Amino acid sequence: MEKIIVEGGKRLEGELIVSGAKNAVLPLMAACILTEGVNTFTNVPDLADVRTMSEMLEILGARVEYDNGDLSIDTKKLNKWVAPYELVKTMRASVLVLGPLTARFGRARVSLPGGCAIGERPIDQHLKGLRILGAEIEIEEGYVGTVAPKLQGGVIPFDVSTVTGTENLMLSSVLSKGETILLNAACEPEVTELGQVLNEMGADIKGIGTDIITINGVSSLSPIKDHEVMPDRIEAGTFMIASALTKGDILVKNCRFENMGALIGKLIEAGADITRENGGIRVKCGNEIKSIDITTLPYPGFPTDMQAQMMTLMSIADGLSIITETIFPQRFLHAGELRRMGADIKLVGNSAVVRGVPHVSGAPTMASDLRASASLVLAGIAAEGKTDISRVYHLDRGYDKLDRKLESVGARIWREKE
Ligand code: EPU
Repeated sequence: MEKIIVEGGKRLEGELIVSGAKNAVLPLMAACILTEGVNTFTNVPDLADVRTMSEMLEILGARVEYDNGDLSIDTKKLNKWVAPYELVKTMRASVLVLGPLTARFGRARVSLPGGCAIGERPIDQHLKGLRILGAEIEIEEGYVGTVAPKLQGGVIPFDVSTVTGTENLMLSSVLSKGETILLNAACEPEVTELGQVLNEMGADIKGIGTDIITINGVSSLSPIKDHEVMPDRIEAGTFMIASALTKGDILVKNCRFENMGALIGKLIEAGADITRENGGIRVKCGNEIKSIDITTLPYPGFPTDMQAQMMTLMSIADGLSIITETIFPQRFLHAGELRRMGADIKLVGNSAVVRGVPHVSGAPTMASDLRASASLVLAGIAAEGKTDISRVYHLDRGYDKLDRKLESVGARIWREKE
């Protein structure tokens, strides 16, 4: 196992290029199950989660090749419908194969994802939707089994806004008979990208990007060619906070300003200077960071995947900040680690009360999940002294070479064997 070491206190300056989005490419890979042929993608990030989804597709019978951002998925020989526990337990997003396998084979058997460091994360809405489309569902031996010789359209009202739930039901219904309407659908840009790609494959989906999505079933889909995966807005946001934290000046390239309104607004409120520039976003910060309040919400609200990184920024801000987590109310494992670095954070229900301190100091820390790892790397960059972050495999699930990218703009950061 590896750990990351950071020697803090360096001002970051320069340009960083954002990789393709993890949460966009995973559902796109699952969508390939609905086609028979060779699908190709570009700008695919080099991540453990992409490798896990590739392995999953290979177990199902697909041929997957990855080379320096180019991904090809040949589904001609895909002929299995069981997603095993060994893979699902390492990546919850594996559940995205449930819908397309049911649609393609009329049956599927997918290991039920268990608990998770960031919260309970049930999949009841995915299963409710599949039942509405006519699937029979059984949970046995830790697996969800579906049987549905032919899925029929229906109206699916989601009780909560769910990203992978909306994606799974889009993937289930594109080949079903008749019309499906998803109510209270998630509007995240990654859901929009999936809808657009499915339409390019030949699907008939309307209302993409809104909370009412209408899908008219078609008889087949064609493979997608050379689709460029959208940039990762969470990686971009992490770089923006790195700049603000170090009073730096970073141009974050290959990111979409229009997808990042909530974060940009909050960083401006906190005193950062943000400009749109040459297909990127420049973040400068000459002043003290001001404390601000944050509440995570479904898109276009403030993303839960930026909550931990923002908590790091608020830890050294001037004043008191209240961070309220409404998506995963227990997603606060990073708070305890930040406290070990000298941050003043109290948890009250689903809120964190953060009283800014003049500086945090380096300490040995442990990552608990993907975004928590990022918040510790950021804290290490801002800290006085040396920070060790162990269990760095969490980081490698969803950030493409974060340490090397940060090093290229001046951070003192490296890896060592644990
Ligand atoms: N929920 C239910 N029932 C369901 C589904 C969801 O109650 O059937 C609840 C969840 O427990 C949560 C809320 O609905 O309280 C929203 O969860 P959602 O389903 O939207 O989360 P997800 O689809 O499992 C995706 C991302 C997460 C991101 C969330 C929220 C992927 C692969 N994962 O998860 O990304 O935090 O949406 O935006 O897209 C990450 O990248 O670090 C990450 C955790």
